[in-house]
Amino acid sequence: MGADMQDVPSVEAKGARIPLLGLGTWDLHGRVCARIVEQALRLGYRHVDTAEMYDNEREVGEGLRASGVKRNDAFVTTKIWPSHFAPLELERAARECLARLRLSEVDLLLLHWPNPQIPLAETLGALCKVKRDGLARHIGVSNFTVTLMDEALRLSSEPLVCNQFECHPFLDQSKLIAACRQHAMAVVAYSPIAKGSVRDDETLSRIGAARKKTAAQVCLRFLVQQNIVVIPRTSRVERLVENAAIFDFALRAEEMAAIAALARRDGRLVNSALFGQQKWD
Ligand SMILES: NC(=O)c1ccc[n+]([C@@H]2O[C@H](COP(=O)([O-])OP(=O)(O)OC[C@H]3O[C@@H](n4cnc5c(N)ncnc54)[C@H](OP(=O)(O)O)[C@@H]3O)[C@@H](O)[C@H]2O)c1
Repeated sequence: MGADMQDVPSVEAKGARIPLLGLGTWDLHGRVCARIVEQALRLGYRHVDTAEMYDNEREVGEGLRASGVKRNDAFVTTKIWPSHFAPLELERAARECLARLRLSEVDLLLLHWPNPQIPLAETLGALCKVKRDGLARHIGVSNFTVTLMDEALRLSSEPLVCNQFECHPFLDQSKLIAACRQHAMAVVAYSPIAKGSVRDDETLSRIGAARKKTAAQVCLRFLVQQNIVVIPRTSRVERLVENAAIFDFALRAEEMAAIAALARRDGRLVNSALFGQQKWD
């Protein structure tokens, strides 16, 4: 464990132990990506989030190896892009992810977005087979609605351990969070600091000021205090440290309520219409 960080706690979901803090890597490339992954792991991060669509799995793998952290001590997530959801395609895509990462298995393999063009039963059948074949220790979904999650759970012969979706104080995701809890699935929050925009929020800054914490730290604390896994992305080492210093303080109930009240109708940042989905429930 790096000298700068305490041990990161984990959540348990259907046999998976997922570190509550991970490093997001969307839009990180080349040496910047490899170095920030290496630095994060050296500092004590134990969870890295990538995807075939991010086009950086090679660099994520490089960073992992350069960090010296043992393979079993790091939790690596990748995701299959919806255009690869036909069964044979999915298996091929998963093998290609592993080849780029230079790993024999990932800890968690997710369906990146729902794809209404391909029957979910077929895609899940292939995802379960990939798990049984030892390419992924755990499997799950991302950007699935409550209804789609229910359907996926019904169709899957292997446990689905999480749903990864946009989650931060400016967006009310209470229904989706409740559905995950009901199914004993972990919630993994992407864009957990609303793509950096929380830094300008007065409520978060005010709550942080008394504890010498930044708005981003208060925001991340708000999520991990609800056992929600967070995967903030940064390209800067000083922010790696900042985003990890969230386990040495607690928010009071009235502060949690004040932060929850920041949700607004136009709070969503990531477009859900990408694959023909009309609405989120
Ligand atoms: N499953 C999906 O469909 C999906 C979709 C979106 C994202 N994700 C995953 O979730 C990860 C995180 O989401 P995200 O990248 O969209 O957004 P995010 O983590 O909420 O925010 C990242 C932005 O915030 C800035 N930042 C980082 N730490 C900060 C701090 N302490 N104070 C102020 N600004 C800070 C970063 O800039 P600097 O680099 O300059 O620090 C970057 O511009 C992604 O990288 C990806 O791994 C998944």
